[in-house]
Amino acid sequence: MSDPSVYGPDKVLIFDTTLRDGEQSPGATLNAQEKLDIARQLARLGVDIIEAGFPVASPGDLEAVKRIAETVGQETRVDKHGNTAEPPTICGLARANKKDIDAAWEAVQPAKHPCIHTFIATSPVHMEYKLRMSPEEVIERTREMVSYAKQFCDDVEFSPEDAGRSHPKYLYQILEVAIEAGATTLNIPDTVGYTTPDEFGRLIHDIRENTPGAKDVVISVHCHDDLGLATANTMAGVQNGARQVEVTLNGIGERAGNTSLEEVVMALYVRQQVYEIDSNIVTQEIHRTSDMVSRYTGMMIQPNKAIVGSNAFAHEAGIHQDGMLKNKRTYEIMDADTIGLSHSKLVLGKHSGRHAFRVRLQEMGYHLEDDELNKVFRRFKELADKKKVVSDADLEALVGDEVYQPQETWELVGVQVQCGINVVPTAVVTLRNVETGQVMTDAGFGTGPVDAVYQGIKRIVQVPNTLTEFVVQAVTEGIDANGDVTIRIAVPESRGYSHTAQGRARRRLFSGRGVDTDILVACAKAYIQALNKLIDSESQDSAAVRITQDDAVPA
Ligand code: KIV
Ligand code: ZN
Repeated sequence: MSDPSVYGPDKVLIFDTTLRDGEQSPGATLNAQEKLDIARQLARLGVDIIEAGFPVASPGDLEAVKRIAETVGQETRVDKHGNTAEPPTICGLARANKKDIDAAWEAVQPAKHPCIHTFIATSPVHMEYKLRMSPEEVIERTREMVSYAKQFCDDVEFSPEDAGRSHPKYLYQILEVAIEAGATTLNIPDTVGYTTPDEFGRLIHDIRENTPGAKDVVISVHCHDDLGLATANTMAGVQNGARQVEVTLNGIGERAGNTSLEEVVMALYVRQQVYEIDSNIVTQEIHRTSDMVSRYTGMMIQPNKAIVGSNAFAHEAGIHQDGMLKNKRTYEIMDADTIGLSHSKLVLGKHSGRHAFRVRLQEMGYHLEDDELNKVFRRFKELADKKKVVSDADLEALVGDEVYQPQETWELVGVQVQCGINVVPTAVVTLRNVETGQVMTDAGFGTGPVDAVYQGIKRIVQVPNTLTEFVVQAVTEGIDANGDVTIRIAVPESRGYSHTAQGRARRRLFSGRGVDTDILVACAKAYIQALNKLIDSESQDSAAVRITQDDAVPA
């Protein structure tokens, strides 16, 4: 299948849409700084294209995409062979109208390699009920808007939304028009995750065979996971000539999510003999990127998730352990090292100095500024006092907790809790308002210690919200483990909504994560982080463009 005269280059381009389709997952909202941090890590991971957002959706998203274009989009990087490589392409999404395309261009223009991705729905149900346009009108709009985008940008991607449920003959027609108008990539989305691998593979094959000009442009695939078939469909697309895959870390995205980057990349890597095609991904960065995306979005990874789940390299059954001890290949088809999962346990101890600490972090891929390093080093020393063994996982959690934080309005200064049998759980909380410098203390009573802490914080911050999810995990094994708390809070219905792909109102959710050996401190930190995100987003929302039912956001 690798014959370049039939299928084009022996490379699949990795188009990462974690910051656009992935961010559309309920509660996964990211602020501009978080998006920039993730974009930097995506560049290190080696992705070819970063779809950084949907610029017309809000001024905040436009600014975030622009910052990514101005920085990550201009910086050279190191490729998987250790050579200097071009910056990634920075792409912005736009519906097929001038306002969206103008916003996308404004945002991506500073990048060395900018791209505008425009789309319009092509399935009968979408054209009739959502767009209320005839098939002829949709074709005409495609011609006009792809040409419009092309005036600004050489690299234009066109997607017929809901291609998986569109008539193939209609697709050949509209795709031909898109090519004539200047599209350089044709992306074929299975927007609602409806197709099977056979069907989807055949669709890609038939599009290449029946669309005039299709063999001169890149064919891309974009699959959703509603039936759990996203990765299988994507691989079928690749086997039938797709040379770009649209993916997200951990498979996050609308509803059941998108195809996950790590699954596709590792399938290509482990089963080279089947696919005979490579990607530019630095696989050793997969684990770290996955962890960062999970931390920032608050979207936990299920333990049995392929490649990046915590059980993906764990062996429980005696018979498996026995086999592993005799030869790892009995039950492991890839090395944990390949995805950057370090097995080193004892990394540093309480006598380690700042230099060794910095070097270890650099080996792990963290290049921190001096003040950031100092903060993390202080936390490391505190931790090393409490814990004999400080592992890489601990260090990653500390860096995440100290350095990669959203815009702060409130900061935790102190928390003291009283609880037990026959006492009313009580917490005294002290917070500092970072903007005004004001320090405030209040007390809360609750059904348990966590509730008491949350009531105390609520009384100070005074922003209505309800807790919808609360998960506590240990970062490593042992009684002295760091506690890692993830929570999600919802804004009450009276304070506004976001909108789903169908334009329906949806409650706005914000996630927060906190790490500490004291579980109640971790809870307080997680809650404050989520509240800071909520406050930050409300200040941006006042200027946000409202997305109505007629021009709904894509899946
Ligand atoms: O799922 C979808 O159809 C999309 C398009 C914008 C590519 O996300
Ligand atoms: Zn999508």
